[in-house]
Amino acid sequence: SGFVVAVDGPSGSGKSSVSKQVARVLGYGFLDTGAMYRALTWWCLEQGVDLGDADAVTAAAERFPLGIGTDPDAPDVTVDGTDVATAIREPRISTNVSAVAKILPVREILRVMQRRLINEAGEATGGVVAEGRDITTVVAPEAPVRILLTASEEARLARRSRELHGAADANAVEATRSQVVDRDKADSAVSEFTVAADGVTTIDTSHLDFDGSVEAVLQVVEA
Ligand code: CDP
Repeated sequence: SGFVVAVDGPSGSGKSSVSKQVARVLGYGFLDTGAMYRALTWWCLEQGVDLGDADAVTAAAERFPLGIGTDPDAPDVTVDGTDVATAIREPRISTNVSAVAKILPVREILRVMQRRLINEAGEATGGVVAEGRDITTVVAPEAPVRILLTASEEARLARRSRELHGAADANAVEATRSQVVDRDKADSAVSEFTVAADGVTTIDTSHLDFDGSVEAVLQVVEA
């Protein structure tokens, strides 16, 4: 089923962009599990499902028509054939996704999908880089390489602010805070992704740029 590189980390740690590049360099598949939680959130909002109703969200997850690409150069995300790759990055999704992700039966359903996608991508290309919040601990705890990407709150806010607003001045950083700090707080109720589990290598990217972060991950893979 291929070589699995599991990467976890909080928002703004760079895990998505870094993991994608690592997958490219290694010629592996890439799985963004956060995109799955985001797409489910998008679909629930689209259908008027009350996100506070755990049974209703779980029922939606059970018949979730998700399509997700594992090619790092074409990581498309569709729901029932509709391209949602851009829509799932909107603030209304970022502020609501934790409510969906904290529902344990929903996590169970998505984890089953994730393990299947990891196996399929690994079989197709020889390996896969899978990233999220619970990959090193729950989805793929047997992965030969498990990494926690961290960064200081300041560094994570500045990165996400540049992504969302094209700037990291005081106003842009303040506008980003709710989407980074508050969401990580909401998420930590479910997964303790800020502390590395046994056997997981922590890489602090606070003082690393993108290429430096990619290099640091590749070094752990090649060790
Ligand atoms: O914006 P960021 O890259 O941090 O988030 P993401 O990776 O797109 O994940 C979005 C949300 O999905 C997170 O805030 C979590 O609520 C949830 N998630 C999760 O619970 N477990 C995962 N393995 C991945 C994401």
